[in-house]
Amino acid sequence: MEKRKISFSPPDVGELEIAEVAAALKSGWITTGPRTKLLERRLAAYIETGKNNVDTERETERWSSRVVCLNSATAAEELCLRVLGVKEGDEVLVPAYTYTASASAAIHCGATVRFVDIQKDGDPDSHMPEMDYEKLEAAIGPKTKAIVTVDLGGIVCDYDRIFAIAERKKALFTPMEPDGTPLGDLGSRIQRALGRVAVVADCAHSLGSSRIVSVAGGKAIRRQRLCCGAIADFSVFSFHAVKNFTTAEGGAAVWLPLQQVSNEEIYQMFQLLSLHGQNKDALAKSKLGAWEYDIIGPWYKCNMTDIMAAMGLRQLDRYPALLSRRAEIIRRYDAACDELGISHLFHHTETTDGNGHLYLIRVPGFVEEQRNRLIELLAEAGIATNVHYKPLPMMTAYGGDCSGYPNAYDYYRNLISLPIHTLLTDEDVDYVCETLKTALKSF
Ligand SMILES: Cc1ncc(COP(=O)(O)O)c(C=O)c1O
Repeated sequence: MEKRKISFSPPDVGELEIAEVAAALKSGWITTGPRTKLLERRLAAYIETGKNNVDTERETERWSSRVVCLNSATAAEELCLRVLGVKEGDEVLVPAYTYTASASAAIHCGATVRFVDIQKDGDPDSHMPEMDYEKLEAAIGPKTKAIVTVDLGGIVCDYDRIFAIAERKKALFTPMEPDGTPLGDLGSRIQRALGRVAVVADCAHSLGSSRIVSVAGGKAIRRQRLCCGAIADFSVFSFHAVKNFTTAEGGAAVWLPLQQVSNEEIYQMFQLLSLHGQNKDALAKSKLGAWEYDIIGPWYKCNMTDIMAAMGLRQLDRYPALLSRRAEIIRRYDAACDELGISHLFHHTETTDGNGHLYLIRVPGFVEEQRNRLIELLAEAGIATNVHYKPLPMMTAYGGDCSGYPNAYDYYRNLISLPIHTLLTDEDVDYVCETLKTALKSF
């Protein structure tokens, strides 16, 4: 076989994105403006309907104030926790098996993170490294304010179980008192409205993924397929360069409507938090004579620019085709891994329909050293791979000790993420499979 060069996850950006970015640059408005607002409305429609071509110019009100575009998922998660009033003295539960941003956002808010181990070998159907739900339930205490769930690799967690746990532990939950500030008062009202720990979904990988979940409608409960962003109380997406939908850097926050607090009020707080606490954005200030503004709080600067949103608009046009191509690649990888007896993620199960963001494989019986050698052999053949993830408790910042999280360690020790992206040809995928087969023979 002739050697090929296979990158891990390069951005799939084409002429459409380039033309829209150029149009934004020429438009005279390059920071947060009309393109960002349009992307927010189109994402809101996509999350609610699963369709990327809803004409959001027709029912502007319906799709407005539902999604906030920001400069990263990390910022989006931190702002969600801020809006929820999470602060010093509170605890946030996070799976041990995730990326640092899932946990660091809570720490930035002053909260204490408590890690929860994953199920042994992950979820039995999808193999996704999901939290051990018994351990999650046991970890909820009177200080717990939020659970951060992670739809790793684009596979959606079991939210029916997560919400059932949050409900069962309701009696331990005390909503924060209002503190007389706009942010603290909003947090208090949201906590009261929820009446239990909040479920904040880290959907960094899972735009466009869906799951069949239980939905209350009057007295009846029905089963319905919902997209990520329409399931958890708050959800955050990443549009970072390695993600399957990219704006270079970027992210978005979205929440479920509450009866007691209007979407507009929550949206407005996100605007304030992401723009210095300033009560007028650049577009509003640019109107003649409208220079004056107030600063409501000494907050952050993490807004999305219209240049980023330009990329996002065209990525959204192409998204269904991008996801279909991922599904084809996955079918090819699945066939090869099944033949080799290698465990892999199942992106499509009876309940979940994943976007195919990552392709994780685990080689039975391998220890870390063998896994690392396999990564080297693939690299020598020109194939870039990765490891998603080294469990957070192993990281220096989180104590450097994974002994309390044996399932997370066990999942990690023999895991490799194979390259998956939409610039891969069928021949590239076959090359990865053949090289893997040959490399495994050397062990
Ligand atoms: C699971 C998870 N959460 C959060 C993030 C943070 O995303 P961003 O880089 O957009 O802040 C990442 C980034 O890779 C991630 O993998």
